[in-house]
Amino acid sequence: MLLKTISFSTLAVLFSLITIGGYVSASGVGLTCPDWPLCPHGLLPQTDFIIEYFHRSLAATTGVLVITTMAFTLKSKSAPTGMKIASIIAGGAVIGQITLGAIVIVERLHAVLVTIHLGLGIVLFSMVLVTVLFAYRLEKDRKAFQAKAQ
Ligand code: HEM
Repeated sequence: MLLKTISFSTLAVLFSLITIGGYVSASGVGLTCPDWPLCPHGLLPQTDFIIEYFHRSLAATTGVLVITTMAFTLKSKSAPTGMKIASIIAGGAVIGQITLGAIVIVERLHAVLVTIHLGLGIVLFSMVLVTVLFAYRLEKDRKAFQAKAQ
């Protein structure tokens, strides 16, 4: 149940992050926050760079959630190998994606880097989705087992 909730929350936050990333790119506000890791006023958000600020804050939250999902999956005795592998790939992808986000800023939105940023985002989303599907199946199997035992 916990694994299902954590992994699904991770997927929901990641979906919002990717959607906002698309908006950052399409509206051309990617360099409104030209520094890294913090924006010009430190941790304080400002209207001038609120979208980019939101993208980075959500990226940090997503990072914590993906790593937490991975930790719970690896700790779980009932999680199948496929689920563990997917969560490890997601953990690696989120670290790579956050690092790449920083390089995208430093390299002033180089087209190749932004394209890789999009591609890695899709890999990350797919791996978290696979983890969620496994978590739902685990929960279903657990309920079926309990019903049989009664
Ligand atoms: C898990 C972390 C992240 C994910 C999943 C993610 C995802 C995305 C996606 C899907 C886009 C849209 C790309 C496109 O439409 O071509 C985007 C754009 C962008 N992201 Fe991220 N991102 C993450 C972290 C970061 C971080 C940490 C930074 C900066 C420190 C960053 C900076 C940017 C910038 C500047 C753009 C706009 C690029 C442009 O203007 O073309 N991202 N992101």
